[in-house]
Amino acid sequence: MKNIAVFASGKGSNFEQIATRGIRGARISLLVTDKICNALTIAHRYEIEAKTFERRDFETKNAMEEAIIKVLEEEKIDLIVLAGYMRLLSPAFVNRYRNRILNIHPSLLPHYKGKHAIQQAVEDGRKLYGVTVHYVNEGMDEGQIIEQVRVPYEGFDIEELEKMVHETEYELYTRVIQHLIDQEETT
Ligand code: GRF
Repeated sequence: MKNIAVFASGKGSNFEQIATRGIRGARISLLVTDKICNALTIAHRYEIEAKTFERRDFETKNAMEEAIIKVLEEEKIDLIVLAGYMRLLSPAFVNRYRNRILNIHPSLLPHYKGKHAIQQAVEDGRKLYGVTVHYVNEGMDEGQIIEQVRVPYEGFDIEELEKMVHETEYELYTRVIQHLIDQEETT
């Protein structure tokens, strides 16, 4: 049984969907957040251990990450799943978990990195949107792409578009995580 840690900073809908759908051969053993947020409520509902590490409680970013790593080690975490975690991980952290940290982003990377990906693509008048799952490196929304799914949309209702993008995220993220866990089982 592999142990997964999900990192989140907000709503936690991806976290919730992964928890609901479940991953064969793995369990979500830990939620890490950097603030008080809705994801914590979801963790409580699913009886998943949750820990919050707020930057202001630590003198340096390094000290904060060291504290997180300590918990990850205690929980014997194999895979870290970023799901709306709004902090950049340091090179030292990324090195420690190289190729074991995933992120999901609501665009067809390398286009529209950053916080307002869907909004920016809409402003550019795009007709093709999408979702990317990638390994995390030192950059923001960078790192080797694992899989992308396109979401064609020609309408004008941004809420509808966002819903389509998020539904795509839920399916894709669960599928990619499952695939990686299955691969580990056979190696
Ligand atoms: C998602 O759109 C994800 O792609 C991005 O942040 C958002 C998180 O949403 N990285 P939620 O907290 O999972 O609802």
